[in-house]
Amino acid sequence: MDRTEFLKRMGLLAGGALVVGCLGGCRREEEEDMAPSVLNRDFTLDLTAPENSVLGQDGGSRIVQQVLVVRTAPGQFAAVASTCTHQGGTVQFQAGSGDLRCPVHGARFALSGAVSSGPAPRPLQQFNTQLNGDLLRVFS
Ligand code: FES
Repeated sequence: MDRTEFLKRMGLLAGGALVVGCLGGCRREEEEDMAPSVLNRDFTLDLTAPENSVLGQDGGSRIVQQVLVVRTAPGQFAAVASTCTHQGGTVQFQAGSGDLRCPVHGARFALSGAVSSGPAPRPLQQFNTQLNGDLLRVFS
């Protein structure tokens, strides 16, 4: 093998090592934080509408515009981002335990959005709720 061929081979090996290293590093970051950082939301749900009837009972929940809305007690609601901060699974309300769970890898969250157990790296964004008669406003 002459000097030129040797250098070409070394260049290919070094380039290949860089690509593999980058893929591993980039992939790791994506796996750990898939949710959008901040959602700007401001919508109103008519609780008399058929699609919102599930919110007429305690423990009822519905996802609207990537926000999980849960009725926690008569006249009281919680709202958090529905996208898990780990790898983007859709978080669900667990009526039995009263918390939120991601079915993909089992992360758990409080109704405030705080992480109760991993692998989620950060909390779910929490939204404000305001009830006026039968109209529930959900906003950032
Ligand atoms: S996507 Fe992994 S715990 Fe939610």
